[in-house]
Amino acid sequence: MNASHALVPGIAGHQRYPLTFGPSPIHKLQRLTENLGGAQIWAKRDDCISGLAFGGNKTRKLEYIVPDILASGADTIVSIGGVQSNHTRQVAATAAHLGLKARLVQERWVDWDDPVNDKVGNIELSRIMGADVRLDPRGFDIGIRDSWEEAIADVKANGGTPYAIPAGGSVHPLGGLGYAHWAQEVAEQEQLLGIFFDTIIVCAVTGSTQAGMIAGFAALEDAGGRPRKVIGIDASATLDKTIEQVTRIANNTADLIGLGRALRDDEITILPGWEGPAYGIPDTSTINAITSLGSLEGVIVDPVYEGKSMAGLMDLVRDGRISADSNVLYAHLGGQLALNAYSSEFNS
Ligand SMILES: Cc1ncc(COP(=O)(O)O)c(C=O)c1O
Repeated sequence: MNASHALVPGIAGHQRYPLTFGPSPIHKLQRLTENLGGAQIWAKRDDCISGLAFGGNKTRKLEYIVPDILASGADTIVSIGGVQSNHTRQVAATAAHLGLKARLVQERWVDWDDPVNDKVGNIELSRIMGADVRLDPRGFDIGIRDSWEEAIADVKANGGTPYAIPAGGSVHPLGGLGYAHWAQEVAEQEQLLGIFFDTIIVCAVTGSTQAGMIAGFAALEDAGGRPRKVIGIDASATLDKTIEQVTRIANNTADLIGLGRALRDDEITILPGWEGPAYGIPDTSTINAITSLGSLEGVIVDPVYEGKSMAGLMDLVRDGRISADSNVLYAHLGGQLALNAYSSEFNS
């Protein structure tokens, strides 16, 4: 890939407000690679990307949404997620950083009755950062939520000017741009490292992380870059909705960056098998992935998202569905704070 192939055409036309330190680091997972005995495995660490409340994938998405927030003249960002949402924590951090208020709806997305679930981890940090945190008993869905629309109306009724960000920042017109930019960042880092990652593994739930990557890599490929596979690992346990949402957001993002064509079906891959019994509930494969990665590498992943995508990566490499001559890039998207509410899984 030459230098021009490392640029996603069209991304530079979108304003980006920096919330991150710069490109997130990429490093080899050497002991995991040796343990699985197949493809070479690397990680790109978006969990180490920012000084704002531990960062993560939403911080990267928010970089492209903040200019619109500032232009809108809003004084309150309204957003939504589960009780242990990483997204709402990153919204709270961004609001604090910008000097705005945050109104956060925390729905009961997970039937998880750990006694500290609504007190520690993400939700604790959102409270520390001054967000107006409201618990809501309604359950999981990745789409537009009534509770969120009610919160927007309530902020207005109380004289505020809301800026609305849906769950995961995903169903927002600009939600996919952050990870289209991630694709460009990967291509630039590949040139420095002298490596090409033919396979990307990424956790998918609300969809704009994988969708942005798909659009970004499609643009790189159309500009002459080598093809690669972006494999989403479903952690929503509502696979059809996630596939539909990723496809829609990927095409919307492709339009925004001027791809000039619809994405093909073979560019959208989301695999089930590691989602566990429900969103937010780990199974044995999740827990084994967390403890294996922790004990082999000292790298920590969570039971809601990355533990599931890591379980997928491990199986796909071990059984050869990802071939032994591949270079795999694992997208570590953050999320470790939720571990505080899952201590019962690690007591033995
Ligand atoms: C740590 C972590 N990993 C993965 C995801 C999935 O990303 P997306 O919702 O964009 O599919 C999320 C958010 O939902 C997350 O917080």
